[in-house]
Amino acid sequence: GAPVEVDISDVKPGEMKVVEWRGKPVWILRRTPEMLASLPKNDSLVADPNSDKSFQIPVPEYAKNEFRARQDHKEVLVTVGICSHLGCSPSSRFTEGPQPNLPDDWHGGFLCPCHGSTFDLSGRVFKNKPAPANLDVPPYMYLSDNKIVIG
Ligand code: FES
Repeated sequence: GAPVEVDISDVKPGEMKVVEWRGKPVWILRRTPEMLASLPKNDSLVADPNSDKSFQIPVPEYAKNEFRARQDHKEVLVTVGICSHLGCSPSSRFTEGPQPNLPDDWHGGFLCPCHGSTFDLSGRVFKNKPAPANLDVPPYMYLSDNKIVIG
């Protein structure tokens, strides 16, 4: 499939945009400083904090850390919105705090409606959930501050 160019100037902090790449939904989430600060708190709660394992796409070097994003724009998460269990599309749960079907110490992330896998704001799967791997981070790069190319 061809690379996809995306203008992200309309994605405000705390908001997410969905684009299609190779027939898959790709989420582009511009995380707030609070969202970024919450990620290290999940390190001991997620199954694979540094993304040692891959799902369908080899993990890019820049995604092998808790932010799973390019260093120069680490607030922007780019991830494939397909659950590594049986392929459902998780939905966003950005509100912090206890909520039904979510881990007690919830700092925001995603919930898969099919079998309850939960992912943090970097797409890292929480322990003891059916999904075997973190959400894929596709290869992407910046053409300018607000323009990325995926693929
Ligand atoms: Fe997501 Fe099963 S498909 S938990």
